[in-house]
Amino acid sequence: MKSFPPYRVQVVKEIPITTRPEREEALSRAGYNMFDVPAGMVTIDLLTDSGTGAVSAAQEAAAAAADRSYAGSDSYYRFRHALDELTGFPHIFPVHQGRAAERILFSAVLAPGRISLSNTHFDTTRANVELLGAQALDLPCPEAADLDSLDPFKGNIDLARLEEILAGPDGERVGQVLITITNNGGGGQPVSMANLKAVRELCKRFQVPFFLDAARFAENAWLVTQREAEYAGHTPRAVAQEAFALADGCVASLKKDAISPMGAMIGISDAEVAQRCEVNLIATEGFRTYGGLAAHDLERVAQGLEEVLNPHYLRSRTAEAAHLARLVNEAGVDIVQPPGIHALYLNAGRLLPHIPSSGFPGHALACELYLAGGIRCVELGSLYLGEFDEQHNLRTPAPFELVRVAIPRRTYTQAHLEYVADVLGTIAKNPESVPEYRVVDAPPILRHFNLKMRKA
Ligand code: F0G
Repeated sequence: MKSFPPYRVQVVKEIPITTRPEREEALSRAGYNMFDVPAGMVTIDLLTDSGTGAVSAAQEAAAAAADRSYAGSDSYYRFRHALDELTGFPHIFPVHQGRAAERILFSAVLAPGRISLSNTHFDTTRANVELLGAQALDLPCPEAADLDSLDPFKGNIDLARLEEILAGPDGERVGQVLITITNNGGGGQPVSMANLKAVRELCKRFQVPFFLDAARFAENAWLVTQREAEYAGHTPRAVAQEAFALADGCVASLKKDAISPMGAMIGISDAEVAQRCEVNLIATEGFRTYGGLAAHDLERVAQGLEEVLNPHYLRSRTAEAAHLARLVNEAGVDIVQPPGIHALYLNAGRLLPHIPSSGFPGHALACELYLAGGIRCVELGSLYLGEFDEQHNLRTPAPFELVRVAIPRRTYTQAHLEYVADVLGTIAKNPESVPEYRVVDAPPILRHFNLKMRKA
């Protein structure tokens, strides 16, 4: 039976329709940097699934009735209740977004010279580790290196490497193990419960805290019910609860799977770590019952956490991504397989073999999607992950040249996604016409947000 979204559209927002000359002008004015293109010039915005989901009538009703009391507001207790029930952590703090959660939790457990181990650190996560003078090491499982393989859990951490490091001479320096579910920096692939349980055991044996970066906990839980035999027939809520129960704490941006425009949380078991976080929270984000969030966002989160775990919603969201993946493949464009949920990762290196890494095939494809169809997405290749010399020449390319096409929650219809596949299909018919790009100027850190490029 075909799945369909368990909601109907009640409020809509017009999207800009532009001409190719207008887009050429806008992209050139932005220095060929997608982050500098005004949203008013973007027709289909697939830059991120973060804070871009459509809110429900129930979320807006709760938001309208929010209690703005400084301390102990009703909205805080609703937020708290939803997260208590889901995560079970005794200490829970609201923060304004995921990176604030990272900064606060990591500064309670890491210090200069310490190491953070992960399946893959997301970019702000890595930045927050490194800003503390600690080292962020990614240990993706070997299966992740084969973009075409259909292995169901390519988001897993490499357990052999993890054990080797924990047991080796650097083991004493490991301050945390952080597992990102789903693995956004690793093709949006899920992590199995078996992998999480094995991490739990290793962390217990070596007495290292085990945290989740749970931004997409519901989508990971859904993929577990679909791909891990032991969990077939479990509800996504039960799987998510079990995942949280395995960890010593979590950071979670709630702009993704709480379908809220803003918000995040920190969950912690250890009372002493929680106390250190609380001091930092109050000094830098806000009091412990709002943590930098407006009451209306506490409400949107509490309600969104209910809605996101609805199996009908998760099934139709997964089907939407799978449908797009199928159309994209039929159009002759390969993606990181198997498709996850929140984004597809296009294999731009393979589509544009005439462009060497130094000409940034991922960026070139992202620019072409914008120029040809007003579609915005972002490169995940050498521009983002490569190493550069001082003249902005690429010294070490990234292992893959990808483009992430994120799918905001409840936002675009099947027809919008079919349009995206059509535009990609047009590009794939004539790939040699896509030009190379060069870096004109780039800052040393968080390069991709601030670069200026030109056509070669
Ligand atoms: N962790 C993961 C896995 C993320 O994907 C993000 C954000 C964060 C942490 C940081 O959360 O944005 O609330 O501060 N990802 C967005 C993206 C920006 O487009 O993938 P935040």
